[in-house]
Amino acid sequence: MKTTKVGIIGCGMISDTYFKAAQKFNILEVIACSDIIPERSKAKHDLYGVANVTNEKLLANKDIEIVLNLTPPQVHSKIALDTLNAGKHAYSEKPFGVDEADAAKVMALAKKKKLRVGCAPDTFLGGGHQTARKVIDDGWIGKPLSGTAIVMGRGPESWPHAPFFYDYGGGPMLDLGPYYMTALVVTARGFDFRTMGPEVAPQYKDKYVPFGKYPVNVTTHLTGVVEFQCGALITVITSFDCYRHGHHPIEIYGSEGSLQVPDPNGFDGPVRIFRKGFKDRDWKDIPLTHVYTDNSRSIGAADMAYALRSGRKHRVNGELANHVLEIMLSFDKSSKAGARVELKTACERPAPLPLGLNEGELPE
Ligand SMILES: NC(=O)c1ccc[n+]([C@@H]2O[C@H](COP(=O)([O-])OP(=O)(O)OC[C@H]3O[C@@H](n4cnc5c(N)ncnc54)[C@H](O)[C@@H]3O)[C@@H](O)[C@H]2O)c1
Repeated sequence: MKTTKVGIIGCGMISDTYFKAAQKFNILEVIACSDIIPERSKAKHDLYGVANVTNEKLLANKDIEIVLNLTPPQVHSKIALDTLNAGKHAYSEKPFGVDEADAAKVMALAKKKKLRVGCAPDTFLGGGHQTARKVIDDGWIGKPLSGTAIVMGRGPESWPHAPFFYDYGGGPMLDLGPYYMTALVVTARGFDFRTMGPEVAPQYKDKYVPFGKYPVNVTTHLTGVVEFQCGALITVITSFDCYRHGHHPIEIYGSEGSLQVPDPNGFDGPVRIFRKGFKDRDWKDIPLTHVYTDNSRSIGAADMAYALRSGRKHRVNGELANHVLEIMLSFDKSSKAGARVELKTACERPAPLPLGLNEGELPE
């Protein structure tokens, strides 16, 4: 099979997952990588045998069709614009951008240049979520009426690059909200400063270590209600201010029953159902109908590569990511205004994955 040549910009923590998962999808061939800290891309060159170059060289490489942008959120839009200006398709880690204006620039440039944009998460293509979707689409819980999407914890304070999660573009909504979703809203910040953990990424050493702490620039507890086009009301909570909770990540309540949807930060199940008429009061596990249950990040980029060949729409697309970004940013907007926010963007539901695929396969 003729491969689609890919370059990776940003060789930090998540990049190994991409380097490895891309090996599963024969259509993707990672040929070069870059990082503003060259030792990091050199380490990936040593491990995976791909060329270690600068961003400029990577973008100038005529063979590369898709650039995977695995940089921190604040540079996502810039790298996406550079990628499109270099005539390449841009696929980014989440979020799609840190503000709507930047994201709109990316969408407009892609349209002008007739290039594709995509943005993680692609976990909704995993076996767990495709099964949950099939169960809903096939009517097993009737009409979805309401639900909950809850992700709470104390945040990634101990991570070496923790400060970026507490700066603009981070926080529980933009970091974890992309997985969840989508505005009657209250937001808060539980702590004004956070403590640097024992492992510190080099770029934060001089800046924060002498003080032992760093400022929190984003709201860290956001809660609201999102009204979907079908009328379902979903209660959303994302928080970095909570030590422990007992809620399931996502539950959907329909006219005929209820569904427990697995953690959207992963690809696996379980998917559990309760239907009216069940004799006992227990949830029942549903066998997964789709493959991709291990960490398959990059499946969205592989789907983009197939879509480029056939001309079909790619599933993990910019329209979707841009809509999700507007929803996430609307929580703070609604809270500040003390009012409901009407969304301006919209998107089509991506096509489901067909049944019967094997690992590594995607539809043409
Ligand atoms: N770490 C995770 O578990 C995880 C999971 C899912 C998604 N993500 C997302 O992936 C992205 C990266 O996260 P990470 O945890 O790998 O962060 P990281 O800080 O470990 O890696 C980011 C890398 O990008 C490099 N970089 C920064 N600016 C650059 C530029 N202008 N050009 C080239 N390289 C540049 C940094 O030097 C760093 O090596 C974020 O958007 C994050 O939300 C991370």
